[in-house]
Amino acid sequence: MLDANAAAVTPPAAIRREDYRPPDWLVPEIALDVSLDPAHTRVKARLTVRRNGEHRRALHLDGDGLIPIGVLIDGEELHDSWRMDGPALVIDLSGTDHLIETEVEISPAANSALMGLYESNGLLCTQCEAEGFRRITFFPDRPDVLSRYTVRMEADKARFPILLANGDPVDTGDLAAGKHYALWRDPFPKPCYLFAMVAGDLVANCQVFTTRSGRDIDLGIWVRAGDLPKTDHAMAALKASMAWDERVYGREYDLAIFNIVAVSDFNFGAMENKGLNIFNSRYILADPDTATDADFDAVAGVVAHEYFHNWSGNRVTCRDWFQLSLKEGFTVFRDQQFSADQGSPAVKRIEDVRALRAAQFPEDAGPLAHPIRPESYIEISNFYTATVYNKGAEVIRMLHALLGPEGFRAGTDLYFERHDGHAATCEDFVVALEDATGADLTQFRLWYTQAGTPRVTASLEHDVPGGRARLKLSQTIPPTPGQPDKQPMVIPLRVALLGERSGNPMGPEQLITLDASEGEVLFDGLTERPILSINRGFSAPIVLQSNRSASELAFLSAHDNDPFARYEAMQQLMLDTLIAGVAKGGNDHGPVIEAIRDTLTDPALDAAFIAEAVLLPSEALIGDQLAEVDPEKIAAVREALRADIGTTLEDDWRDAYARSRANRFEYTPTAKGARRMHTVALGYLAASGAQDTARLAYEQFAAADNMTDRQGALGVLANGTAAERETALDEFYQRYRQDPLVLDKWFTAQALSTRADTPAAVEKLSRHPDFTIANPNRLRSLVNAFAVNQRAFHDLAGGGYRFLADMILAVDPRNPQSAARLVPSLGRWRRFEPKRAAAMRAELERILATPGLSKDVLEQVSKSLN
Ligand code: TRP
Ligand code: ZN
Repeated sequence: MLDANAAAVTPPAAIRREDYRPPDWLVPEIALDVSLDPAHTRVKARLTVRRNGEHRRALHLDGDGLIPIGVLIDGEELHDSWRMDGPALVIDLSGTDHLIETEVEISPAANSALMGLYESNGLLCTQCEAEGFRRITFFPDRPDVLSRYTVRMEADKARFPILLANGDPVDTGDLAAGKHYALWRDPFPKPCYLFAMVAGDLVANCQVFTTRSGRDIDLGIWVRAGDLPKTDHAMAALKASMAWDERVYGREYDLAIFNIVAVSDFNFGAMENKGLNIFNSRYILADPDTATDADFDAVAGVVAHEYFHNWSGNRVTCRDWFQLSLKEGFTVFRDQQFSADQGSPAVKRIEDVRALRAAQFPEDAGPLAHPIRPESYIEISNFYTATVYNKGAEVIRMLHALLGPEGFRAGTDLYFERHDGHAATCEDFVVALEDATGADLTQFRLWYTQAGTPRVTASLEHDVPGGRARLKLSQTIPPTPGQPDKQPMVIPLRVALLGERSGNPMGPEQLITLDASEGEVLFDGLTERPILSINRGFSAPIVLQSNRSASELAFLSAHDNDPFARYEAMQQLMLDTLIAGVAKGGNDHGPVIEAIRDTLTDPALDAAFIAEAVLLPSEALIGDQLAEVDPEKIAAVREALRADIGTTLEDDWRDAYARSRANRFEYTPTAKGARRMHTVALGYLAASGAQDTARLAYEQFAAADNMTDRQGALGVLANGTAAERETALDEFYQRYRQDPLVLDKWFTAQALSTRADTPAAVEKLSRHPDFTIANPNRLRSLVNAFAVNQRAFHDLAGGGYRFLADMILAVDPRNPQSAARLVPSLGRWRRFEPKRAAAMRAELERILATPGLSKDVLEQVSKSLN
């Protein structure tokens, strides 16, 4: 009975999608009265509850670590009518409508999990998605219970002069003993995961946005006093997002106020709480001296994402957490569209596909694979995944392609109209698209239920004298945990044939839908030898296998009129070359080098595109193509190709480097492209072994008037052994030691280093006075960066696996979500050669044998060992 291990080895019960039942009780109104204090916060809640349907079941209020100080039922202390059932409060009720009052005390200062109400840097703030509200008060913590919130906050006025919550401010005033209060009311019914409160000493960047119907919205971005100058970019992105959603989706903002607060301790990117978004400060604060171009882009993307949730997530929310992709996949698609519209669509698509391949494809091929709408979970926090978010967005993108922009818009209009103010399902979304367009998406729904990345084989046969060609297609979907057999999916492929002689497309691009195991498409009227351009724009999230030769890929990389396809052809050529090197020990670098030269010197291309196109696939991506990963071999083959590209094209890199030198910072697409090119060229010069690279890099580092150039140079130096490396690292540290977001970059630059001593350096950095596992950004900056550094993390002598397992065990008691997110790097053990696989597996087993693991880590580790 009292065996502490017993609980640890029996995984907690899974929640299953098919078990969904509507809530027994609704809560149309909730009034919270919160007396805020870091160590002792009192939360009084008044819930108006209403029986939902004919049943005699008790009212079940979720709680997590709460002890009731008082419970009143219709104003009375009926001790026989309520009881604790584990962490939950259960109340027997006889009628249909009742008033429930509870009071609890919580300690934000002691909350290291960063879920519920917690303290960050002197600020009190909340994070309730997915199940954090139950750490604040007793409540039916599920997204299909929607309530109107009235929130009264009370706190010490000197320490917490600003008191924010969702909705509209109704009243404020002073109280005795140096306290003050604020009363907020949110007129829109919402699930409790969208509740938010912030108290602190903050200042705001305040501006006004006028909606298309002429309403003035007060916008506020709230930060610590010194950070105010870094909020302009986020503010501009917010206004642009508001205008974009009106224009592209017909969605206008609904409250009179929209506030954003930046906090430094946050488990995720940001949170879309109604009218009061809370952000990880890294996705708000940006200026040229401290943020890279990629940081600027990420700020705009996340600001847009959270803003877009006001409709896709808040006005229409999720019925249950299995529907998470309903809001996340759709909202990621919306933020991707927005960012594409703001800058270069081709480069944005390349970045999004690169992120999908880096994070989602491995997930889909590993022990944690799940469909975008999972069938079961133990801990919902573990399902905020690249699959639900990014593959979810790809599924929406395919719907957009299949229905066309107008059909898709008609569908989303109907969806918003039909489900406004309600909790919906993925099925509701698909039905709205069908009803608005007449399309039949029956088979397409497999994308919601089947996990695994489809493999599509494409081969083109042609008969030039006859003017004909035949494209043969086939698909298979690999087995995934719990899904040994799959049905053929609907795969939309944008296809064109290019003429080998003219370099021009023969006929318009076609959208071909492969919806059976095999398919065939015939082309006629061809006047020259055709070359196949397929899955243009990455129209489907698949792995493509084609019979295109190196010279055909090189041709496409130089001539395809779809920029993504051009990039993709180059990537495929590079991958084929690298894989041949790993598999056969020998390969011909010539075609890759020639293709890079052509791209580098093509006057029709912009620098931003060129910089993406000439980059080799990552070591991890090469590993993903192989049956068994040998990180050392992959690194050696890739380095050899890099060196050859660097040396053979040295003059071109020097040209590109000189051409892309800027003299004054500008945040324009052209200037951004030049900066990207500048550092990419520097990297190839370093790979060439040219004597002056360290000097060039250090000059770039020292002369930079922006973080992109500075961090780029530091990254190049960090891989080398020159004396300039230590100088630059030291100067960077001294200059930015007071700026946590920049100091994160200092940790990351070292954790990503290709040097052989990186595992030891990371180990040492984990004992650096500025390292802490308490801050998720700092933890990630060192530990996640190290875990994605394939050669360093998998260096058998480096002890990386033990290091990561120790980190997981150290972080788990404080912050289970953060700890669980470190597990997948070890969880991929089956993909590696036997020695490494065994060592990784042993660490997973050591974790599993540790008593007292969180549900979060337990689920990820046990699934990884299955
Ligand atoms: N809904 C948030 C988003 O995608 C995600 C999120 C924020 C989250 N904080 C979290 C998820 C904490 C889990 C735990 O924008
Ligand atoms: Zn989101």
